[in-house]
Amino acid sequence: MTRQSWSSKTVFILAAVGSAVGLGNIWRFPYLAAKHGGGAFLVPYLIALLVVGIPLLTLEIGVGQLKQQGAIGSFRKLFPSFGGLGVLALLSAFIIVSYYTVVMAWSLIYFFGSFKLSWSENTEAYFNQQVLNISDSIFQIGGINLPIFSALIVVWILIYFSVWQGTKSLSKILYFTVPLPFILLVFLFIRTVTLDGFFQGWELYLNPVWNAMRDPEVWGAAFSQIFFTLTLAFGVMIAYASYRDSGEDIVKDSWITALLNSAISLFAGFVVFGVLGYMATQTETPLEELAQQSGPGLAFVIFPEALSLMPLPWLFSLLFFLILLTLGIDSAFSLVEAINTVFLDRSENIKLPQISFWVCLVGFFAGIIYTTRAGLYFLDIIDHFVTSYNLLFVGVGQALLAGWIYGAEKLRREINEVSFWKLGKWWWNLTIKYLVIIILTALLITNFYTDLNTAYGDYPGWVLGIAWFFVFLVPVLISGGIIVKDHMQLQRQNQFSKD
Ligand code: PFF
Repeated sequence: MTRQSWSSKTVFILAAVGSAVGLGNIWRFPYLAAKHGGGAFLVPYLIALLVVGIPLLTLEIGVGQLKQQGAIGSFRKLFPSFGGLGVLALLSAFIIVSYYTVVMAWSLIYFFGSFKLSWSENTEAYFNQQVLNISDSIFQIGGINLPIFSALIVVWILIYFSVWQGTKSLSKILYFTVPLPFILLVFLFIRTVTLDGFFQGWELYLNPVWNAMRDPEVWGAAFSQIFFTLTLAFGVMIAYASYRDSGEDIVKDSWITALLNSAISLFAGFVVFGVLGYMATQTETPLEELAQQSGPGLAFVIFPEALSLMPLPWLFSLLFFLILLTLGIDSAFSLVEAINTVFLDRSENIKLPQISFWVCLVGFFAGIIYTTRAGLYFLDIIDHFVTSYNLLFVGVGQALLAGWIYGAEKLRREINEVSFWKLGKWWWNLTIKYLVIIILTALLITNFYTDLNTAYGDYPGWVLGIAWFFVFLVPVLISGGIIVKDHMQLQRQNQFSKD
């Protein structure tokens, strides 16, 4: 059986950009910029892109394309007992997609609510009480929330029909789901610059506060954001690149993907902050207060309220939630595709529609916990741990594996052989062998230290402890166990062949 492949080079770029550009670009980047020094935040952000983002993205695209396997198989080809690291990446992908889809389910509910502007009375009450029906604490799980549950089914059906024929179905869908949110964003942008107060919003967003650059927290935020936004350490880029011809240009396409993703983040910020500026003038609320919201609060409370103040509110609400849905879906199906790919690598007899079905079904079941009345609490805690630990840990593992065990120089030569733009020896070796490892380890330690000292989100310590144990420690132990087992087996084989 021949390996699947993308229908064209452009489709691969669409897929990679689609995976990178997601909800994080709308509700994480603009908020971080405003909070951490406005325009001055761009300095640490761009440095993080150069020092960690692009090197790791090039590594993932390079490894996937050259080894022609998903995360597990590719890591094995770098070093035979390192498949376990791929397992850890995929477990993280699985955990994330199980709640990412729930956020998409909320977006779907809002999308349909746009026609009636269901939230117009009180957006906060609408989100917390109507949509989430949120309980008082994480201990009151309550029942399943049927509208969210039903919307989640629809989201998973959409994902299934995106991935069910692998690159064949994806190649068609991507032409639609990747450009559409950008076109809609441009519409919203044009609308924004005709609103009162938009410029105050932009000022808050980009006015540089250079002092911020002295704060280590700002640097930490920039590096985490780069990591998060490029969908690194999930095996996604590896899987996607494995469907390319092994002779494609790796370096150029990695740069294109990374730069497009950051450009879109920056652009989305103009829309988000323009709208917030308008809202501040309309409601006479201090802009800073509005801008403190990121995450679900921004997209499902502040933004709907701002949209409902505009002329033709239903139309712009419809646009906004369609943007969220179309941005989210190609990130979500990229995570599913990373998982599918390793199953397909394992056996030639596996049928794509079947494996997609099972992965989607299990992903759906894993998401049910977030459709309960305590769902938002679970989502918040699990998102915190998986993004603060698992991803960084896999990032360090990848850099150690490629930089030290396989050899940064060897990989550089292989990548350069097929690339028109060449990887510089100095930059590549310095980043992959040293900087990525040092910076991500420092972030891991800082996150751990902060979590030990302050209970995240004021949840009870033991709840956080249990979550950390299951989200981070158990997956690490499983993958570590696989690495050790494979290593021993390998040694036995070597011994055997020597005897
Ligand atoms: N890169 C996408 C985003 O920024 O939304 C997808 C994603 C990556 C989601 C990593 C979540 C995550 F932790």
